[in-house]
Amino acid sequence: MKIPFHVPVYDDTDAAALAQSIASGSLVGDGPATRRVTAALARDLGVRHALLTPSCTHALELAMMTLDLEPGDDVIVPSFTFVSSTNAILRRGARVVFADVDPATLTLTADEVRARITPRTRAIMPVVYAGVSPDIDPIRALAASRSIVVIEDAAQGIAARYRGRPAGTTGHMGCFSFHETKNFSTGEGGAFVTNDDAFIQRAEIMREKGTNRKQFMLGLVDKYTWVDVGSSFLPPDSMAALLESQMAKRERIQARRQAIFERYSDAFAPLARDGRLALPVIPPYAASNHHIYHVLMQDEPTRNRALAFFREREIGTTFHYLPLHLSPMGRALGHAEGDFPVTESASGRLLRLPIYPSLTEAEQERVIGAMKEFFP
Ligand SMILES: Cc1ncc(COP(=O)(O)O)c(C=O)c1O
Repeated sequence: MKIPFHVPVYDDTDAAALAQSIASGSLVGDGPATRRVTAALARDLGVRHALLTPSCTHALELAMMTLDLEPGDDVIVPSFTFVSSTNAILRRGARVVFADVDPATLTLTADEVRARITPRTRAIMPVVYAGVSPDIDPIRALAASRSIVVIEDAAQGIAARYRGRPAGTTGHMGCFSFHETKNFSTGEGGAFVTNDDAFIQRAEIMREKGTNRKQFMLGLVDKYTWVDVGSSFLPPDSMAALLESQMAKRERIQARRQAIFERYSDAFAPLARDGRLALPVIPPYAASNHHIYHVLMQDEPTRNRALAFFREREIGTTFHYLPLHLSPMGRALGHAEGDFPVTESASGRLLRLPIYPSLTEAEQERVIGAMKEFFP
């Protein structure tokens, strides 16, 4: 029997939440479920402001819109990330300044940022990888001394922590994903968070087609009108209803993921000791949300053989992030092989294994057994 690479957690309580949302007679954005889940999210994350968005991609675009970036502005971002991070920058006409990552956590480092900061740097976009936050404090310190804005791409960061604080909340703005591949899924979905009153005021207007509708809803103005450039970044209220139901399962989902993660790491520890592979690293400053389980093989041919080996055994595994600087877009931006060696090496060696709550003990055994068989 095939072991899928990913299976989302949808159950009867989710179906009931969606049915109830439809029965309410209205699914437009910012309805009652959106208000409830947004308040809960802000409380859980300890932030002053949160907005639901149709995806993390939209949240990143919204964050970039609030900055009024101009051609000539630079944004520093790791090459080891998803295309949404860099699209959000390019769509504002700003320049993507790629950086390399830490070989252990595969996240942006202060040293990499320091080497790339110039007077043109307007923003830095650290990315949470696999549920492990970058070491943000030194990055923030570099940014603060130069009035640079830090936007965290925490698409993979919900329920993770950095030095006790929720990941995604330690910069000026943070963006989360509830895509079906994430720990909590609404199919597509996202959130934008900030503690900054000026950023939220602009984001609320831009999210509502450039109007002051939010102020109208609060009774602060008697008519709403066009006040700024904007778009429509509101998800339907049904997405919020599903998110509420998903978050209610938080303890169970997180506990299952952690158990599988630890089981894999225990089982593969001897292979790591023998230098056959490297286990995922969670530094002391971080608490992971165990979003991804990945190992790093010795080299790319070995990783590719492992992908084929698991495929033959009907076990879903995959690679992660082809370096953006080597994509056709990255090359068009002037990059070439060798520009970011850690990213290139990790991308070639990385193998992701199935990790989700419904993965049974027997299935975990099969994954572990296959890995041991691969390294006889
Ligand atoms: C780092 C990163 N940023 C952004 C995204 C985009 O998220 P969404 O699918 O919610 O737009 C992803 C998706 O996996 C991601 O890994």
